[in-house]
Amino acid sequence: MSEDDPLPTRPGTPLLSDRAVELLDHADSNTVAELTALRDQINRFLMRYKFGVSEVETKLTILREEFNFTAGYNPIENIACRVKPLDGVLEKAARKGIPLDLDAIKDGLSDIAGVRVICSFVSDVYRIFEMLTSQDDITVLEVKDYIAHPKPNGYRSLHVILEVPVFLSSGPQQVRVEVQFRTIAMDFWASLEHKTYYKYDRQVPKHLIEGLTEAAETAAHLDATMERLHHEVRGYPEPPRSLSI
Ligand code: GTP
Ligand code: MG
Repeated sequence: MSEDDPLPTRPGTPLLSDRAVELLDHADSNTVAELTALRDQINRFLMRYKFGVSEVETKLTILREEFNFTAGYNPIENIACRVKPLDGVLEKAARKGIPLDLDAIKDGLSDIAGVRVICSFVSDVYRIFEMLTSQDDITVLEVKDYIAHPKPNGYRSLHVILEVPVFLSSGPQQVRVEVQFRTIAMDFWASLEHKTYYKYDRQVPKHLIEGLTEAAETAAHLDATMERLHHEVRGYPEPPRSLSI
């Protein structure tokens, strides 16, 4: 996931369509003022999620560096953050029947702010998850353990929806963030599955679905083997491979 900019920034991409420019040309000053206020309200709304993502990212970076220092190896391969762009937020709200109202969207969507944590081993997934979610200022709203209970297609990851406080000039606000934890092998699989799903516009041929489900099993087997080898090399006792909460 990358940090998405809500405005188009590619060189040569006009900020407004011809139709929008024409509408603005004919708009009275009240309309322009209302549009400006709406833009500010939306930017403020999305900014909270950007801050929420930064808070979670900082917590993970601290855990990563401290873990690296004390245990001598890096349990987190990569941390990717993104805030859903406005068009994605509106499209998902419409799809879920949520009124196009910022308060309703805030209550109804849990993945406007997203963080993906890629770990080396399954035990690191659970370890980092517990270290993050046990922090005093984090409120866990929902956990979905698709590692212990993979989806029928083979998808594996540990998902948590949490709230983290961000301290604005007006006071603290709780911001909801979806954090997905997975191994490198699970991420490799999820990224191919996602591309396949979109390439075939959700109508994936049966043999590809079967191939992907089989590949998910192979990836899980690889994770188990790598974990065993890693612990044998380092001489550790068996690590946690499930949630202890
Ligand atoms: P949505 O948020 O509407 O997607 O529904 P949900 O909250 O029930 O979804 P869930 O928690 O199961 O999944 C949330 C996110 O996990 C998705 O947006 C994807 O990023 C990822 N995900 C879930 N299932 C799959 C899957 O089968 N394949 C891949 N590639 N990603 C998945
Ligand atoms: Mg979701």
